[in-house]
Amino acid sequence: MKFRSILAATMLLTASATPLMAQGDPAEDALNYRLGVFRTMAWSFGPMVAMVKNKMPYDAALFSQHAERVAFLSHLPLEGFIADSRIGDTTAKPEVWTERAEFEIQMDTMISAAEKLFEVSKAGDLDAIRPQFGALGKSCKSCHDDFRTE
Ligand code: HEC
Repeated sequence: MKFRSILAATMLLTASATPLMAQGDPAEDALNYRLGVFRTMAWSFGPMVAMVKNKMPYDAALFSQHAERVAFLSHLPLEGFIADSRIGDTTAKPEVWTERAEFEIQMDTMISAAEKLFEVSKAGDLDAIRPQFGALGKSCKSCHDDFRTE
């Protein structure tokens, strides 16, 4: 548990400290920023998947806390996809920049699904959560299928 908290704190620091450490390469900063956000999002996905699949006892407060984080984080990645930032270890396809309207529509789909999941999670009913969690997972996968190379 302690290790997990330290890891979570480190991941949040990595995401939020990036602007302070900016060394003048906007593309690299943007890449680090969006990867930090996506990785922080994935951190919260883990326990939610485990609870939805009955691999971890359902804890309504814990689930809702992670759902709230993902709803907040879902608004953040888009601004990290700045022009000319398809660099380094990125797995973003060129279409992120050439099919921008569709990319943004899929971001909005994820945001709506994440916010709805947080709303639904407050009632603490896992049977109601499952389909909404499925909708959110589908929004991630759909964009990754279209806009990521792997
Ligand atoms: C609108 C498109 C879109 C949506 C929606 C989306 N992603 Fe992504 N995701 C991307 C792109 C593009 C990348 C590649 C970023 C890069 O490497 O520059 C990525 C990368 C990632 C990565 C890899 C980070 C790394 O370490 O390389 C994770 C993890 C991730 N996304 C999780 C999620 C989760 C979880 C969701 C849903 C809650 C989600 N994504 C929704 C487009 C999206």
